[in-house]
Amino acid sequence: MNLTVNIGKLKLKNPVMTASGTFGYGEEYSEFVDLNKLGAVVVKGLSLLPREGNPPPRIVETPAGMLNAIGLQNIGIENFIREKLSFLRQFDTSVIVNFFGDSIDEYAKAAERLSAVDGIHGLEMNISCPNKEADWRIFGTDPKGTFEVVSAVRKVTDLTLIVKLSPNVTDIALMAKVAEDAGADAVSLINTITGMAIDIKTKRPRLGNITGGLSGPAIKPIAVRMVYETFRAVKIPVIGMGGIMNSSDAIEFLLAGATAVAVGTANFINPSATNDIIKGIESFMAENNITDLNELTGGIKSPQIEMEASGAE
Ligand SMILES: Cc1cc2nc3c(=O)[nH]c(=O)nc-3n(C[C@H](O)[C@H](O)[C@H](O)COP(=O)(O)O)c2cc1C
Repeated sequence: MNLTVNIGKLKLKNPVMTASGTFGYGEEYSEFVDLNKLGAVVVKGLSLLPREGNPPPRIVETPAGMLNAIGLQNIGIENFIREKLSFLRQFDTSVIVNFFGDSIDEYAKAAERLSAVDGIHGLEMNISCPNKEADWRIFGTDPKGTFEVVSAVRKVTDLTLIVKLSPNVTDIALMAKVAEDAGADAVSLINTITGMAIDIKTKRPRLGNITGGLSGPAIKPIAVRMVYETFRAVKIPVIGMGGIMNSSDAIEFLLAGATAVAVGTANFINPSATNDIIKGIESFMAENNITDLNELTGGIKSPQIEMEASGAE
């Protein structure tokens, strides 16, 4: 049975990775999860300098999901390299570093630094961040901002470059195409969807930051739809995520067009969710006589899609 998938220059042993920000720097989960079994570990988003993040409360439970406004708290790239990377180097898995900046220059400097270090196999750039040089507009909700920041990073790294797209846009397929044109090796989606919650007794927002990002099962149908639209628009691999709780959810993403998947909020409910999902995919393949996982990617069946593919009116 072949579970390996290719993402840029990376060959993952299976399609299951962790979603950034929900798995720490790997070490936090190593008691519950055999990291050797994972397709890849994607670490918490890093910036050039450490960040304290937003004021509390930073997490609220919602029906079928959660809102978070962590505010990209992190230990900074240098501390990560010094204190966390040697732990990850022990494992036979791909290490993908998620990173971000406040300006194009910061993104490029971060990517350049991370690319000079042994033990980092790929980069995932989170473009759902405000650009201080453009009135704090979010890079990833503006095609021009996306093109410029991805092009700048592409120039300074030969590592596999994954661009993590924001779902807070009207046309995600367009943003994916822009990332592809700017040199991305893959796109990952979706990041959280902006939301908010208010306590009706105190009339106060439930998050210190007022708004936050919605994740978990509540966003899965939106994420599946966005993966489906993106898969049809680009040639590079799509990494799907958003509400994946079990192997059936993961397979749904593959059928919509994902080459690989990432598991986020599920880690907070079941710390060994990633390992369980890999086992579940293997069982599904065995039961359905599927010898190569890649057969599932984009395997959605519908007379309408088949008609469109054949060019019929
Ligand atoms: C607490 C928390 C922190 C997150 N931090 C990051 C981050 O640092 N960088 C990033 O690109 N995405 C971050 N995300 C988004 C997730 O990686 C993922 O895209 C999103 O949660 C959807 O997947 P899920 O529904 O499986 O959680 C975070 C999500 C959560 C819940």
